[in-house]
Amino acid sequence: MFTEEHSAQIVAASFAEGTDPRLREILTSLVTHAHAFVKDVGLTVDEWAAGVRFLTETGQACTGTRQELILLSDVLGVSMLVETLNNRADGGLTESTVEGPFHLVASPPRALGDSIDDEGAGEPCLVTGRVVDDTGRPVAGAHVDVWQADADGYYDVQRPDEVTPLNLRGLFTADGDGGFRFRTIVPRFYPIPTDGPVGRLLAATGRHPFRPAHIHVEVTAPGVRTLTTHLFVAGDPYLTSDAVFGVKESLVLDFATVDDPERAAAAGLPNPFRAVDIPLTVHRRRDAAAGAG
Ligand code: BEZ
Ligand code: FE
Repeated sequence: MFTEEHSAQIVAASFAEGTDPRLREILTSLVTHAHAFVKDVGLTVDEWAAGVRFLTETGQACTGTRQELILLSDVLGVSMLVETLNNRADGGLTESTVEGPFHLVASPPRALGDSIDDEGAGEPCLVTGRVVDDTGRPVAGAHVDVWQADADGYYDVQRPDEVTPLNLRGLFTADGDGGFRFRTIVPRFYPIPTDGPVGRLLAATGRHPFRPAHIHVEVTAPGVRTLTTHLFVAGDPYLTSDAVFGVKESLVLDFATVDDPERAAAAGLPNPFRAVDIPLTVHRRRDAAAGAG
């Protein structure tokens, strides 16, 4: 029989012996924490109903191109905690961060040195980098997938009628030394979507919706652990208050202003321009899964 005192244990005991052990472990912990939470705050029936309404509306706001439940996880820091727990960046590895909802379309393959900017609006920027593994060996032929917001703070998929599809996205193949380079524009900070339940939660808790300016990077190569991260623009006003807690200090880079007509001409950029170098260190698997990519 249900009692207030033993509520969590009684529910946990209802999970049959034959239940998948990991599912049972997760559900038992979830029930234990949920019951402790209800008791801790003394949740009223009206508050419970408001919570159910909020979660229902959050689910209903999801569409083929919008995932409001992940956004809720993001603004509560849960996504970043899961990401960080599962991708410990020991031994000099590049730190990871959340993928975010805008990796919706496959980035177009582009040649090293190409521009990912098809619109020409924004501050020109040269991005260079090199992918190495945790022993310092270059990861030749690594795939470096990049995507970013434009100078107004929008991704191409948010304004499909106004910008060239796949603008500010590119899939590059690193050279034999793990090197890559491309031209782009300096991204701008932008707000996460605020027209749904998550926006209401932010407003109710006095939080702004902004993410500091960043370029998303995903590195894949056979035998290495996929790295999903961002490079943040140093000096951005939202670096210390990212709405989704995605900033790690090591990922904040100087997008320096370069005044060098020869270098600008060689890169195909006007002078002066901004430039950033991205050293990326990925984990090379040394186990049986090493060949799996
Ligand atoms: C993004 O950086 O694209 C992003 C990440 C989490 C929530 C919303 C946007
Ligand atoms: Fe983003």
